[in-house]
Amino acid sequence: MFPLRKGKAASQAHVGLPEGTFEEEHGRKGFYGRSAHLYHAHPPTNWIRFEGKLRPHCFDLNQMRPSDAGDPRGAPLAFLGNNDVKLSVSRRSEPMPFCFRNADGDELYFVHRGEGVIETDFGPLPFEKGDYVVLPRAVTYRVVPHTKDNFFLIIESKGEFEPPEKGLLGQHALYDPSVLITPEPAPILDDTSEWEVRIQCEGEFSSIWYPFHPLDVIGWKGDLTAWKLRLRDIRPVMSHRAHLPPSAHTTFVTQGAVVCSFLPRPLEQDPEALRVPFFHRNTDYDEFLFYHDGDFFSRDNIKAGMATLHPRGIHHGPHPKALANQHRKTHTDESAVMLDGLNPIHVLPAGEQVEWADYWKSWSPK
Ligand SMILES: [Fe+2]
Repeated sequence: MFPLRKGKAASQAHVGLPEGTFEEEHGRKGFYGRSAHLYHAHPPTNWIRFEGKLRPHCFDLNQMRPSDAGDPRGAPLAFLGNNDVKLSVSRRSEPMPFCFRNADGDELYFVHRGEGVIETDFGPLPFEKGDYVVLPRAVTYRVVPHTKDNFFLIIESKGEFEPPEKGLLGQHALYDPSVLITPEPAPILDDTSEWEVRIQCEGEFSSIWYPFHPLDVIGWKGDLTAWKLRLRDIRPVMSHRAHLPPSAHTTFVTQGAVVCSFLPRPLEQDPEALRVPFFHRNTDYDEFLFYHDGDFFSRDNIKAGMATLHPRGIHHGPHPKALANQHRKTHTDESAVMLDGLNPIHVLPAGEQVEWADYWKSWSPK
């Protein structure tokens, strides 16, 4: 019975769209499942009014002021979350005067800005702009920035962060596993001051104190550790003849979510190929996108440090200018981090405070 083809439709998704149409991919399971391509006479984002809570969101995370921005004893601030994942911003400007341990979940730090070291049980991991640092649940660590103006996006998950299956692409696609960085033991043995370990459990902090530095591991072995992947070590895949779906850029999988990295790359060369993301209505995922660096040409009025949340059931796609100008561009220089959540992601009060309320109007053809 499948695939069916009715009316005017392209024979290859994202290529050779019927004249004057706007392609939507209506797909299941992110971009892995069954799908239909709908060729609309109008962009499905050309709405004129909204009622109810469902709408596209945009946040200027540069305006968030987590308590760790000015207080060394402060903490990151969560702005989005559900029962699987919690997204926070840390602007830590001073080294932690304590060690931290998150018993609620695994953490993925994305360094949007700043340099320094994260000291862990397993040893120190230096960080700089564009690094992902994976801190498994309950690892003891201490963030020691060397710069004042720092910006971390933190994703906390109930499950572990693991690399995706690379399937047909082979194990060296996207990045060779040998680029992953793991720490060497560096026990702190000459510090005799009293040290606090702050432990997060069920969203609350408790502390224990030691008469020595708790990061005192002189050796370790096993298949669990803190680790790091640098954006600049990811070599994105593309096809010169057809736009690949976001799933081709998957970097981590975790319980109830996947994390993708969109990186600078040449755009499709085939004159008939779509060069911007196709419209979609996020059937099975809520889609969070953090704009890290570059020129975000598919979105108007978006700058680095901003983020969008496109909930399931409502369309998103390229802004009108990007759609019109797609064939003038030969490459994209944008870097962004996407998180697709399997369950609805809720906007927390800290997110509401930095929201651009009229974002839903931004697709208006004017
Ligand atoms: Fe999307």
